[in-house]
Amino acid sequence: MMVHSILVGFMGSGKTTVGRLLAAHLNCTHLDLDAVIVARERKSIKQIFADHGEAYFRSLESKMLAEALKRDGILSTGGGTPIRPANRQLLINSDIPVVYLKASPEVIINRLNGDQSRPLFQSMDKQKLIHLYHERESVYEQSATIRMDTDHKEPSEIVRMILKSI
Ligand code: S3P
Repeated sequence: MMVHSILVGFMGSGKTTVGRLLAAHLNCTHLDLDAVIVARERKSIKQIFADHGEAYFRSLESKMLAEALKRDGILSTGGGTPIRPANRQLLINSDIPVVYLKASPEVIINRLNGDQSRPLFQSMDKQKLIHLYHERESVYEQSATIRMDTDHKEPSEIVRMILKSI
């Protein structure tokens, strides 16, 4: 059995939370791509960025994505995973439902307020973040087979919506 579904979306859109819950409902494994990278490097994402830079992180992310797609369960990607065209291609060609968890920039900014773990979020002011958000919207749209508007919805409700559509 292959991965049941893949979650994509901006930082703070709920990929990890929803993925964990969805996997619990389906009684299958949950893989979080960031967590896989952290475990492999034995360093936080923040530390990987600080020590080796973003390009290093992105290469690792691509490698781990290809590995993760061979495994069974629910896969929560990182917010930047679909940026690379080759990664998008892997997602599209996987034949697994790819769910875009869409949250508005306002909701994301509120949710991530004070977050210390995301180097990209920390390095940007509100205007830059909104710019990145709009740049990435089309990338998520292109990668996904299903889009879910998640604003003002509890994770359990989002899980119900996903279960209906996959
Ligand atoms: C990133 C998102 C993060 C993490 C890294 C880069 C991005 O994942 O992979 O900090 O480029 O949007 P989350 O979406 O889980 O925050």
